[in-house]
Amino acid sequence: MSYKLQILAGDGIGPEIMAEVKKLIGWINETTDTKIETADGLIGGASYDEFGEPLTDETLEVSKACDAVILGSVGGPKWDGVDYNERPEAGLLKLRKELDLFANLRPALVFDALIDASTLKPEIVKGLDILIVRELTGGVYFGEPRGIEDLGNGERRGVNTQVYTTSEINRVACVAFDLARKRSNKVTSCEKANVMESGKLWREDVTALHKAEFSDVELEHMYADNCAMQLLRNPSQFDVIVTDNLFGDILSDEAAMLTGSLGMLPSASLGVEGSSAVYEPVHGSAPDIAGQGVANPLATILSFAMCLRYSLDEQDLAQKIEDGVQKVLTDGLRTPDIMADNCKKISTSEMGDALIEAIK
Ligand code: IPM
Ligand code: MG
Repeated sequence: MSYKLQILAGDGIGPEIMAEVKKLIGWINETTDTKIETADGLIGGASYDEFGEPLTDETLEVSKACDAVILGSVGGPKWDGVDYNERPEAGLLKLRKELDLFANLRPALVFDALIDASTLKPEIVKGLDILIVRELTGGVYFGEPRGIEDLGNGERRGVNTQVYTTSEINRVACVAFDLARKRSNKVTSCEKANVMESGKLWREDVTALHKAEFSDVELEHMYADNCAMQLLRNPSQFDVIVTDNLFGDILSDEAAMLTGSLGMLPSASLGVEGSSAVYEPVHGSAPDIAGQGVANPLATILSFAMCLRYSLDEQDLAQKIEDGVQKVLTDGLRTPDIMADNCKKISTSEMGDALIEAIK
């Protein structure tokens, strides 16, 4: 089979971690029947510096035409002074919105070999495998009205709007229920129905959908603040968590940290079936370590594995890569972010090489 992927490396450590994904693609092209063509593009600050905007329509056209997009990371202090609609992050939001990527899958998986990297006790996180399904194209990130207005007298007013419709809630909840059926069959839906009308609607719609189509799946509702607390207290109670854009942003960072390293966690952003999807690590652009060859490429490599699984239906290759990651970790190879006693510290590029060796 042959496929076309767009590679948007972005800013900070993006280009160096993406180089390892490209190595892997090169290896796949050379040694398997799967052929993957790639097209490089700019996003975020890199695009802003070149074109004056964080994602051009031309780049977006390529994103739409490809089977999927593999993204590195965007942003950095260099662009702190830039207007909101031209900031690196705006490029990412435009990509999500234009491709209608309403379901963001963020698995938090604790690898046995990395159990000591977590700040929680090993017995709390051992074997942890939860999946956050974050709504990605609605809520307060996109709601209107928004802005900062001058009220005079030196007083200003900042406004953002949390807004959800039934169809937006239903389509992301459907994804969560479907995925739960393939896992431990439990969905926890999180909002703040106690203080927000949009949360009340969320709870009512999820309940109705569950009753109509997914009554075989266990459903639990939880206020988002309680969920934040429960994630630390007893994370293993969760299987799939479905929540809105903002709560999902926050809860997924928290869930990620349960596993010990943000440098290990992939994500998939999916839209309607058959359209291009975006795969990216959960971590950011880490400008403080960019260009030093110390970044962990595994989150991006695992994102690429998710792409093989969800967009290209190359299950065997995806499994090989995931097994390869287990193997390098069990072999004690570590980038600095996950370094532990009696392990060998290696660079970004050595990690990419080690992974290919492990797969072979
Ligand atoms: C994420 C990030 C983004 C978000 C930023 C970079 C816009 O934090 O993907 O979690 O808030 O969605
Ligand atoms: Mg975030």
